[in-house]
Amino acid sequence: MEGEIQKKKILFSGVQPSGTLTLGNYIGALRNFNLLQDEYNCIYCIVDLHAITVRQDPATLRRRCLEVAGIYMACGIDPEKSLIYCQSHVSGHAELNWVLSCFTYMGELQRMTQFKDKCAKNENNINAGLFTYPVLMAADILLYQADMVPVGSDQKQHIEITRDIAQRINGIYGDVFVVPDAYIPKVGARIMSLTEPEKKMSKSDSEDSYIAILDEPNIIRKKIRRAVTDSDTEIRFDRENKPGVSNLLDIISALSGESVESIVISLQGKGYGALKDAAADCVVDTLSPIQAEYKRIMADKAYLQGILDKSADTANKLAKRTLSKVYRKVGLAQSGRK
Ligand code: TYM
Repeated sequence: MEGEIQKKKILFSGVQPSGTLTLGNYIGALRNFNLLQDEYNCIYCIVDLHAITVRQDPATLRRRCLEVAGIYMACGIDPEKSLIYCQSHVSGHAELNWVLSCFTYMGELQRMTQFKDKCAKNENNINAGLFTYPVLMAADILLYQADMVPVGSDQKQHIEITRDIAQRINGIYGDVFVVPDAYIPKVGARIMSLTEPEKKMSKSDSEDSYIAILDEPNIIRKKIRRAVTDSDTEIRFDRENKPGVSNLLDIISALSGESVESIVISLQGKGYGALKDAAADCVVDTLSPIQAEYKRIMADKAYLQGILDKSADTANKLAKRTLSKVYRKVGLAQSGRK
């Protein structure tokens, strides 16, 4: 991969190991990681440094890093083709973070909507890491000179600030960084909560509000059966007035590949019960093989750990190339040692 990485374009993305991964993570991001892995040289990171912006139980966090790696692979990421590693195993992320933070303005960070949301959720722990979170994310991406970053729409603003920082530094020092593009799926870029469909589905909300990738089929069916819809009976896509129904249509469309229009036609004259059954069937059919594969992968933790270690070695080499270029460009002293 290290040699080959120069030929194809580079794709980078990451997921926080801060909770159980959800159907939103799968549809908005993980599914596309898999679809894009033949076209690009892909680097998939488990962003544990980002996760500690919110208090984590150490043992749980450590366990979750391995679990996210298992989920990546169960979703189809092939460690022979792509890198899968933990962010904290490549020190370049934190080092580039510092340099980039010297080229990022307080005002830019203050405008980030995710920062405002997270402050509201973590009133007792509004730490500086939460504020500078997007700079570390920019470092993740720019460290590998990534061309493409597949994410859900909630990360769009973070990709924009990454581009701004890259362009700013390129403007001062010449071509230092590739300016990355976001890859945001047309369908399913924002899967909504099952209990409050005007809010994003999030692993940090109540269990009923999200479907976990590892939820058992009967739990998935139960959660979808209880999903909030509306007092009307018509199955129609209308995000503003019928957010619950539209979300279920979005989920079916994203997972089946069928257009929302044809799903609506096929459900004409039927009630919300039929819509929910169709959504639950799609989700169970998609997640069951992933869950089986996950179980198989997690049975051999030493193999999984080996993949993380090997990928981190390669990632470290790639990261060092960019870091030394950046250090040289901004004028940091060169070491005399070989
Ligand atoms: P995180 O861990 O919150 O989510 C991981 C990915 O899942 C997407 N996603 C969703 N997509 C659709 N509907 C939803 N309800 C939903 N919830 C989450 C997210 O958009 C994301 O793509 N800051 C990032 C992690 C990160 C990163 C990076 C991503 C750190 N460095 C560099 C890309 C590149 C985050 O918190 O994602």
